[in-house]
Amino acid sequence: MNLIRHQLQPSTVEPSLFSWVFILLAGIAVAGAVLYWLLITTEGVYLGRRVVVWLYDITAHRYDNIKEFDDEAEDFFVARPLSYHLRDKPAARVLDVATGTGRVPHYLLNAPTFNGRVIGLDPAAKMLALAAAKLAPFGNRVSFVRQTADHLPFPDCSFDAVTCLESLEFFPSVEQAIREMVRVLKPGGVLMVTRRRGWEAKAFLGRYRSREDFELFLRGFGLLEVNTQPWQVDYAQVFGRKPA
Ligand SMILES: C[S@@+](CC[C@H](N)C(=O)[O-])C[C@H]1O[C@@H](n2cnc3c(N)ncnc32)[C@H](O)[C@@H]1O
Repeated sequence: MNLIRHQLQPSTVEPSLFSWVFILLAGIAVAGAVLYWLLITTEGVYLGRRVVVWLYDITAHRYDNIKEFDDEAEDFFVARPLSYHLRDKPAARVLDVATGTGRVPHYLLNAPTFNGRVIGLDPAAKMLALAAAKLAPFGNRVSFVRQTADHLPFPDCSFDAVTCLESLEFFPSVEQAIREMVRVLKPGGVLMVTRRRGWEAKAFLGRYRSREDFELFLRGFGLLEVNTQPWQVDYAQVFGRKPA
């Protein structure tokens, strides 16, 4: 009986060295996963605008190599749809928000059917420096502005088209950025943006929008003819038109 009572009493178990090592490794793994999510998967968006811009500045020199833009695909999916929308406007003005290393200006200005001018806007100085060097041969048909998307330094109704590719998910406020883009669009002007899709899109907690939600969101700014075009694994293109 004594023996049984003794066995049922709670005993204090000292964690072994093995347990401590396990706890430490698990902690490091969790911290590593959180850091990866914060800095790589969502590119600093939950840490604030300055971190996002800093990350682009320190990786600017590698950006084009990482993206491996395919000239034919960029012409087909970026330059041609825009040129088509601007076909009746020989002196079209285009604003590319979050221009990065100048992807949209580069492909648009190289398209023989486009004769207008492009302004590229981005807050990352090193991305802009690469864009300016790449597009120098186009002279005054292209210019760059260092600025974020939340306050576009242009009067209302200034542009025939506003583009913003692969960037909205990194902005502090997508609402404010779209409001500004619509404000600077001329009546009848076209907006071309991208919606993040694929499994990584859902890692942007609280920021993910389905295709239907995103189209509804854009219509909420008064845009017409809102439609989504499949594009890449991670992005769909979404077009809209400001009422004439
Ligand atoms: C993935 S890159 C896309 C660049 C370019 N549009 C392209 O498709 O190659 C995202 C860009 O968004 C810019 N960016 C980050 N935060 C921004 C903000 N608040 N306003 C405007 N641009 C921003 C970054 O500096 C970076 O150049």
